[in-house]
Amino acid sequence: MTETTTAAYLDAALPVADRVRDLLDRMTVEEKVGQMLQLDARDDVADHVLRRLAGSLLHASPERLALAHELVDSTRLRIPLLVGEDCIHGHSFWVGATIFPTQLGMAASWDPALVEQVARATAREVAPTGVHWTFSPVLCITRDLRWGRVDETFGEDPHLIGELASAMVRGYQGDGLADPTAILATAKHFAGYSETQGGRDASEADISRRKLRSWFLPPFERVAREGCATFMLGYQTTDGVPITVNDWLLNEVLRGEWGYTGTLVTDWDNVGRMVWEQKVQPDYAHAAAAAVKAGNDMVMTTPRFFEGALEAIERGLLTEADLEPAVARILTLKFRLGLFEDPRRPDPATQAAVIGRADHAALNLEVARRSLVLLRNEGAVLPLAGGCTPGTAAAPGAPVPPGGAAAVRSVAPTGAGSRRIAVVGPLADDAQTQLGDWAGSSGQADWLPDGQPRDMITTVLDGLRAAAPEGWVVDHARGAEILTLEPDPEGATFPDGQPRPPVVVPAEPDEAMIAEAVAAARDADYVVAVVGDRIELVGEGRSTATLELVGGQVALLDALAATGTPLVVVLLASKPLVLPESALGADALVWAANPGMQGGRALAELLLGLAEPSGRLPVSFARHVGQQPTYYNQIRGQHGDRYADLTQRPAFAFGEGLTYSTVEYADLALAATDLGAGDVVRAEITVRNTGARPVRETVQVYVSDRVTSVSWADKELKAFRQVDVAPGESVRVALEVPVADCTIVDAAGRRVIEPGEFDLLVGPSSRDAALLRAPFTIR
Ligand code: NOJ
Repeated sequence: MTETTTAAYLDAALPVADRVRDLLDRMTVEEKVGQMLQLDARDDVADHVLRRLAGSLLHASPERLALAHELVDSTRLRIPLLVGEDCIHGHSFWVGATIFPTQLGMAASWDPALVEQVARATAREVAPTGVHWTFSPVLCITRDLRWGRVDETFGEDPHLIGELASAMVRGYQGDGLADPTAILATAKHFAGYSETQGGRDASEADISRRKLRSWFLPPFERVAREGCATFMLGYQTTDGVPITVNDWLLNEVLRGEWGYTGTLVTDWDNVGRMVWEQKVQPDYAHAAAAAVKAGNDMVMTTPRFFEGALEAIERGLLTEADLEPAVARILTLKFRLGLFEDPRRPDPATQAAVIGRADHAALNLEVARRSLVLLRNEGAVLPLAGGCTPGTAAAPGAPVPPGGAAAVRSVAPTGAGSRRIAVVGPLADDAQTQLGDWAGSSGQADWLPDGQPRDMITTVLDGLRAAAPEGWVVDHARGAEILTLEPDPEGATFPDGQPRPPVVVPAEPDEAMIAEAVAAARDADYVVAVVGDRIELVGEGRSTATLELVGGQVALLDALAATGTPLVVVLLASKPLVLPESALGADALVWAANPGMQGGRALAELLLGLAEPSGRLPVSFARHVGQQPTYYNQIRGQHGDRYADLTQRPAFAFGEGLTYSTVEYADLALAATDLGAGDVVRAEITVRNTGARPVRETVQVYVSDRVTSVSWADKELKAFRQVDVAPGESVRVALEVPVADCTIVDAAGRRVIEPGEFDLLVGPSSRDAALLRAPFTIR
């Protein structure tokens, strides 16, 4: 027997701490530094594993992962690899995996239980592929819509983010790390990364500690307490300090106040960026020493951390002992996952049984339906022809075959006759765009150049063709192009060797394309225009200066509106955009943040009335880019409430979303109005469906603290509940907000309840006019 087969660290019966200690004692300093490295498997895997002794890899294609495992088997201690990937709305880069709506799309469901199911299904698909760790969920708060990563967030509200993110963490981590279907979750990007300047990505986040504690930290604290296994640090610097070395946030707050014992991972080359980008460290030795001393565990894609840390030790900037807490945390994770007993390598049999399976496709369809937000429906143009009914083969919601996007033809209402729908727009039949960022061919993985299989994706055109009643005609014209690309004149790569995104050149309106679309619209009973943004306008390093529809899209919408044919605009956009009058005034407007593989079917069902609209905005829409920010929970106090030339009101506010019915809220009543710190505000409200179709209502509960010792938001979401109400019925909905949640952050940065007068505001959206108000007092 070799020494290692009898070693204590291999004895699964021993406590994890003993196994970690034993292994640490056997490791060389190079092996310790290597364990802290998470390297990009698209580069030289052999060098990563054999020379830099990397403890973790990310972005590994199936082939490179197999190679990496083989190489690990030839290393001295054979410490299993921890494999990470951005599986952020499904197993993003696995061919044939279920790709769900983006996080922002899921957020529009306002349904934590549904989001938990999505994360569970994702974990089930991810685990058998040998990936142990997903870099999800994103807890950044959307503040400036120009930011390129709005689509990755749960929107603009800390409470909603906290609810959805903790659901997602539960879903990923399953029954605990010993569960073979569990994957590690990551709360990212800690903290304040989204407080951008001008929407630009990874700029200095000019943000005070009090502001962090007020809005940005609460969702992170929530998931830290929920047991989220890892935290990823953002790219931002704050007060001149890169997050990678922010002692206050990492040590005082996260490790100290919250008692977080999980593992920290830097973001992409954060350690290197301190040298070559932020220029706050003179060299890699100093940068490595600073990062280790600040408490980072895993260093993502800074290969030179290896040489830097070793040099730092040689030069006395760091000791070998300084490495041990980080290495111990990484090894602890590996032991807790049981990787030394079962390295959880790819398992083709389970992959075949689980990935893209029928119940995941059915769940995906349900999430896609729930992600759609109906923003306008004048004259009840929707559902088309007054609403169809499902055909005989399968009702909406019934399981679909694996990858099964094929919808069942519906049945038109009696007497409706046949109809002609013109489905136009550059996104009506764009399968990969529908999936959004971090999926298939969105650019991060080099092994899926063509994206996810086309036959797994239903576009809006596919969906309408499949689901429209027998005898209806569905025509299609593209109508407009969005953009072309030009190389960045600054060069092909950034100083760190990463590719520079090409520059977007908006397409000119094309008269012939518009004429074709207009002709189709004129011949039709309805025109469904599918417009929005494309991957080149979305993502890391791809913030936009404008929010308008790019290219020929506005001209197309204007021309379609002028035909007089009822116009339904489907906005397939990663984030809220600024819409032209032809869209704001269209007969109907539906927002579908990239709705995933089943998005086209879900949209077709919604338009045909086979599914009811129930999504609510997790983020506000602006009327003009200059209105930024538009989030609802802004601080009280400014001169006036509008710009000289424009309203300050959003086009559509947080929480809004229509149904095919009409709903009334009435009789808000509090059980008690004089409350102490340990009490719960208990209320009831009646929700009445006064229309003819069923609704799923999201009853939103805001709290307003009338007078605060420091300036504060006029209202904040504190609770929400979803209720199904049949036509003609009323439901009395019970609501609760613990008084402990009626807090503000005072001038000293403490979260406190300030006794006094409060209002409970309950209704269907954040708009004041939509809310009923009931006063209460906290003693
Ligand atoms: C950088 C992104 O900011 C982060 O969200 C992602 O997880 C890593 N790259 C890995 O791809």
